[in-house]
Amino acid sequence: MMKFKLYPGLTVIAIIILSQCKTGTEMEETIRYEPPVSFEEATIWADSIVDLMTLDEKISLTGGNLIFYTNAVPRLDIPAVFMADATQGIHIRKEFDTIKYNPTLQKSTAFPSPILLASTWNPVLAYDYANAVGEECRAGGIPVLLGPGMNIYRLSQCGRNFEYFGEDPYLASRMIENYVVGLQKTGTIATLKHFVANNTDYFRRKSNSIVDERTLNEIYMPAFKAGIDAGAMAVMTSYNQLNGEWCGQSYHVITGILREQLGFKWLVMTDWWSVNDGAGVIKSGQDIEMPAREALEYTQELIDSGVVNEADIDRMVTSLLRTLYAMNSFKVKPDPTLLTRFAHHEEVALNTAREGIVLLRNENNILPLEVTSKKILLTGDYINKVAAGGGAAEVEGYNHVVLANALKNILAANLMIAETAADEEIKVADAVILNIGTYDSEGYDRPFELPDSTEKLILRVAALNPNTVVVVNSGSGIDLSNWYDKVSAIIYAWYPGQNGATAVAEILTGILNPSGKLPMTIERKFKDSPGYGYLPEGEELYVGWNSEAEEAREVYDVIYDEGVFVGYRWYEKKNIKPLFAFGFGLSYTSFSYSDLKVSNEQFTSGDIIEVSFVIKNTGERTGAEIAQLYIHDTEASVERPVKELKGFKKVKLNPGESKTVTLQLGKEDFSFWSPEAKDWIAEPGKFEIRVGSSSDNILLNKEVELI
Ligand code: BGC
Repeated sequence: MMKFKLYPGLTVIAIIILSQCKTGTEMEETIRYEPPVSFEEATIWADSIVDLMTLDEKISLTGGNLIFYTNAVPRLDIPAVFMADATQGIHIRKEFDTIKYNPTLQKSTAFPSPILLASTWNPVLAYDYANAVGEECRAGGIPVLLGPGMNIYRLSQCGRNFEYFGEDPYLASRMIENYVVGLQKTGTIATLKHFVANNTDYFRRKSNSIVDERTLNEIYMPAFKAGIDAGAMAVMTSYNQLNGEWCGQSYHVITGILREQLGFKWLVMTDWWSVNDGAGVIKSGQDIEMPAREALEYTQELIDSGVVNEADIDRMVTSLLRTLYAMNSFKVKPDPTLLTRFAHHEEVALNTAREGIVLLRNENNILPLEVTSKKILLTGDYINKVAAGGGAAEVEGYNHVVLANALKNILAANLMIAETAADEEIKVADAVILNIGTYDSEGYDRPFELPDSTEKLILRVAALNPNTVVVVNSGSGIDLSNWYDKVSAIIYAWYPGQNGATAVAEILTGILNPSGKLPMTIERKFKDSPGYGYLPEGEELYVGWNSEAEEAREVYDVIYDEGVFVGYRWYEKKNIKPLFAFGFGLSYTSFSYSDLKVSNEQFTSGDIIEVSFVIKNTGERTGAEIAQLYIHDTEASVERPVKELKGFKKVKLNPGESKTVTLQLGKEDFSFWSPEAKDWIAEPGKFEIRVGSSSDNILLNKEVELI
């Protein structure tokens, strides 16, 4: 029997095969996905096909074709397999996608960005979200999705934070395992990306992440491990170097860490145009160079000269064929009947936005707005657009809802709309909603500070009207420090998807009680953050892909010298008070926490401790609270974070209602990674269990002892 980490905080000793479980929202716990054809059976088949192939045919399969396809071998009835980009849904690129597959998929749902999904702290939604994306893949005959992304939020400036699941490995892991199973349950392969330590997009093809082993294991690998344990069938390596080796062609990274240590046995692909050493790629354990054989162009010569041999090529091809065969990917055809599910997908997108938008500030309970007989002004350059992140993650969507329309539907004549408003209009309004944002994308990092013009606008509106509510659309943290205390309320709406503005309007007007919490810290100033100083001296951020400059420049080092102290682990160690702490988010109601109990105050390494406590809704509205459980190691032989998240639960409560939350902790929850032992170690001694509503608001604690 193997041990799996399941639904938040719950450890069970069992393998639960998803096909035996209930689906989506009915699901109690998660889970592991097993492909329809076993590894062993698929290997036998793949070996038999490889035996029939010519060397040329085999070599052709070690690289992609037409940007998003594998190569076909028509002689052996092996079709090309299409891979669609992700991560805010399916990125339809009409110029590529319809070459082979029936163009059934004329549209795809633009879901909220994954960082918003992480802000829901609801793994069931991660399952539902991915399941909906998977159904769209099947509708369009897409066998492989190039997602989920799961790199850890180390720097608020990273251009791709919106595609990932925040700063905490435990939260990211619980979301990712559910995502993987939800997606693959539809028969679509999940690709965990980008392996590994790919935490900046600043000249990403030239960055060298210098990370120690403990940090890699405790911070940057758990979400990958969770995805692998949940049964993910593909992994994409990253652009960067890890400690001086390009991840896509590093034996240490692919064979050593990914395959041998983490136990990944299926398909590994490069990121697009990310490798340069053919022999290195072949020997590393990599399976396919995407989008085409460039580093692998001279494979025949490498074989002829004895640098690599045919068996190396056989290994690569076997892995590709095995994975695609195990998932029946060669047989995937468009399924137009699934087009009827799009209404459901829109609902999943909206429900995700409803649970993931975070209320950061609400002075004098200005929100929800009183909607009758008030004049409310809606302004700002985001009110008429659907904010979303760019690059591979881009999804056009359909049935778009913008905030101007969503609010008009609710407020009717009480709403005044002006993208740019005159002073007088701002002054006379009873309240002003100002919608601002940033455009985040892969290929470059985005400054933590807002553009001057945006800051000036916020300060101007706030000075003119004391009842200013700022709605932020962004994929990552931004610098709010110059104005957060000058406005009455702040709603962090992320990139909420094609219809997420409806959720924003519902929150503004009290139809919906916000329940999202931050999956990362928002620091006061970027210089407070653990990654500050990552840009090489004298260099500045740029906008756009800047490929020529990237090509021309030297590799630069990003030194992760904060070690495991990333996010709240850093701010707590350094005693730096952030503006908004990890796990923070307001509600229109209030909750109390009480009665913390543990099943055994002393435990041995084989025990499971049950932790329970009571949450009560002490306010007047129905709402959902995300309770968080952290552990604190009171004495350790290595320096450990003040707190580490090891459990959480989102609980919906009516006014006056109480519920008991029960979470379970096992030995692994008290462990740290020891590079000497090459293993997780739980040291005997005392630990504190800390339960609270955010990382900086611990309400209950209890000591336990590992004996
Ligand atoms: C991105 C990947 C993406 C690939 C294919 C790369 O630029 O880093 O995330 O899947 O392109 O579009």
